[in-house]
Amino acid sequence: MATVTIRNLNKKFGAVEVMPSLSLDIEEGQFVVLVGPSGCGKSTLLRMVAGLETITGGEVRIGERVVNHVAPKDRDIAMVFQSYALYPHMNVQQNMGFSLQLKRKTPEEIDGKIRPASGMLGLQDYLDRFPKQLSGGQRQRVAMGRAIVRDPQVFLFDEPLSNLDAKLRVQMRGEIKSMHQRLKTTTIYVTHDQIEAMTMADKIVVMRDGRIEQEGAPLELYDRPQNVFVAGFIGSPQMNFFDAVAADGRLRLGPDLTLPLPPAYASTQGKVICGVRPENFHPGGPGDLPFAVSLVEPTGAETMVTGKIGSTQVSAVLRERVTPHPGEVMQLRVDIESLHLFDPETEQRIEAQPALEAAE
Ligand SMILES: Nc1ncnc2c1ncn2[C@@H]1O[C@H](COP(=O)(O)OP(=O)(O)OP(=O)(O)O)[C@@H](O)[C@H]1O
Ligand SMILES: [Mg+2]
Repeated sequence: MATVTIRNLNKKFGAVEVMPSLSLDIEEGQFVVLVGPSGCGKSTLLRMVAGLETITGGEVRIGERVVNHVAPKDRDIAMVFQSYALYPHMNVQQNMGFSLQLKRKTPEEIDGKIRPASGMLGLQDYLDRFPKQLSGGQRQRVAMGRAIVRDPQVFLFDEPLSNLDAKLRVQMRGEIKSMHQRLKTTTIYVTHDQIEAMTMADKIVVMRDGRIEQEGAPLELYDRPQNVFVAGFIGSPQMNFFDAVAADGRLRLGPDLTLPLPPAYASTQGKVICGVRPENFHPGGPGDLPFAVSLVEPTGAETMVTGKIGSTQVSAVLRERVTPHPGEVMQLRVDIESLHLFDPETEQRIEAQPALEAAE
């Protein structure tokens, strides 16, 4: 276990700057998940921590030690890639033990590491098999086993589950999380999967264009996204956005379309972006918002309905059993307390004013 401290990290590929100046603090034992659109610099950041990519400027510290110029093998980290990168000509045991062999450990020492790791990963019966004789999930486990036996200060994962089918992903997600609970090794984990990010992370870091847009506990980001980008990025399906005008305690979403403002925003005036998560819509009645339905997708537990409110494209996830038909207009009620308001100029969150609310 170690802290990872990243200070003003800068990365240029030739003349192209992909990371201007990124700072991030990771506590001992923390599980940090990096998310962000393709090309935002997640892998580059991970590779700079690992030492697989040079650092143009700034500093990476693992524990107290600045590692900018320390070779990857001396950083005491272990990285697991999407591609597994197993040695095809080695069996499971040899794959897992290879790094220890390089460190000139004795066969007894190597066995002493492989045995508990393979047990933890359910690989004890597969030690003689070669990678091509394993399923995708088993290969992924060997890749993790290879990282575990090194007993590193920090685990780095770059989309380790994205090659697996949906069911295996869920299973491996649980296994990585329980492994982290046992080993408590500081972990940086990159994923495109919302559910992975929300369920595994102690802290989620949302990146865009080599910068951090927001970092925080998963529910903090879900409940209080600091800007329109994070609001749209965290949550699936994504938040709906309305161009709206706040006046006299009401929010106008369009002609004949208004909602009451949440009490803490009662004094807000002027143009706003109003965000509503799909799960904050419910089947409503007269006086609620008319929703022109275009697509209905029942998944069993809930129904995803797509359509328009006024001129805004909207998706709603309804847990109630309703079966609207395409072409129909249904009424949608909104959880007023869970509206998100943003400044249309800066796209930053408008903070609620509980003081005013209390004064009233
Ligand atoms: N070796 C390289 N040479 C030049 N540019 C690179 C190199 N590696 C990455 N980049 C650029 O750096 C930026 C960040 O890439 P990176 O691979 O870190 O993104 P990412 O967030 O991991 O994306 P993805 O989600 O697609 O994996 C991109 O614009 C990419 O084109
Ligand atoms: Mg990547």
